[in-house]
Amino acid sequence: MTNPFHYGSPVTGDRFTDRATELRALVTCMLKGQNAVLLSPRRYGKTSLLKRAVQDVRQAKGRSAMVNLIGCSSRRQVAQTLATGIAHEAMGWLDGRTELLREHLARVRAGVSLEVSHTGLTVTLTPASASTDWSDIISDVLRILVRLGARSHPVSLVIDEFQRVAEIDDGLAGVFKTLVDELEQVSLVFAGSKRHLMEELSTGPGAPLLRVGTRISLAPIPEDLMTRFLIARAESAKKELAPAVAAAIYRIARGIPNDVQQLAFWAFEEPGRRITEATAERALDRVVSLQAEDFAENYDKLAPSQQRLLEVLVRGPVADVYSRQMMALVDVANANAIRVALRRLGELELVERTPAGWRVTSVFFERWLLRKAEF
Ligand SMILES: Nc1ncnc2c1ncn2[C@@H]1O[C@H](COP(=O)(O)OP(=O)(O)O)[C@@H](O)[C@H]1O
Ligand SMILES: [Mg+2]
Repeated sequence: MTNPFHYGSPVTGDRFTDRATELRALVTCMLKGQNAVLLSPRRYGKTSLLKRAVQDVRQAKGRSAMVNLIGCSSRRQVAQTLATGIAHEAMGWLDGRTELLREHLARVRAGVSLEVSHTGLTVTLTPASASTDWSDIISDVLRILVRLGARSHPVSLVIDEFQRVAEIDDGLAGVFKTLVDELEQVSLVFAGSKRHLMEELSTGPGAPLLRVGTRISLAPIPEDLMTRFLIARAESAKKELAPAVAAAIYRIARGIPNDVQQLAFWAFEEPGRRITEATAERALDRVVSLQAEDFAENYDKLAPSQQRLLEVLVRGPVADVYSRQMMALVDVANANAIRVALRRLGELELVERTPAGWRVTSVFFERWLLRKAEF
């Protein structure tokens, strides 16, 4: 029996549920030349939502390209990724006429080579000289979008994992900001995780993405919708999942879409026609033991004070992390030591701040921390 649950990579089709409000907002922006900024921690479903939005936009005759900056570590790679993503889609918009595409690309102030293979199309950009400014080239590449649109075919570009630009260099986000103002007819969608980086980019005075467009924050999928989805998916694969058990799975995984589906996936793999609370508990152990090596490796790389802070946070969210009691529990001399440890753990996305206080981000990692002696 095929498992009806899926985690770890974006979901499409009937593996995708809800997000109706966010989807409508995104699609409207993309068809009306409005920019948008989509924010959430990893695993909440940004890429899945973006893919769905692109699909809907295309159905409405919009022209939409989507790129992912996750693999980029230089301005040159950003330029090439953008050029490749745009060229790939433009081939369709130009009815496959490569010579037209080449004309568009010729406006880019760099040597451009187009390689068409069975895996698709790759654009390689060669700088004209050593002093070539990659921000000019990135701008030229994005300007191509303006010419590829038409009244009945609004153009949009989705840039996933946009927080990479902040990791590449300080000025790069500003290049995009300038273009946002210039490319009025084009809808740019900036999506990203690593909350602190996207926050830096989109909030506070002088932040490059401040007010560039509609801001959409993805929260967990609401419990009633997600549990209904789990039940229907289990049923479609001939397993029984009672509402109370679906709710338990949702709560154990804190409603984080990826983690809910991961737990449901492994619960489904347990023997029996019914998924019970006991099944879900066994699945949780299974998930944790499958990841135990990675958890141990990550944990070993941490400084002792960071490890001790984690040990304290696993016992539940802590609102006042800088209290005397915390300093005693973590065994550090001052609040600054906690601040430094917390910042590092936050950068590694191992802890996060919630309304209830600081806590360990992943329920699976938290479970491992609590019981690591057993693994
Ligand atoms: N709309 C959704 N419906 C059902 N599951 C989802 C949805 N969005 C995300 N998920 C779950 O989360 C996982 C990660 O989704 P993804 O889109 O890659 O997240 P992100 O891009 O935010 O890291 C998916 O594999 C799936 O298990
Ligand atoms: Mg993603």
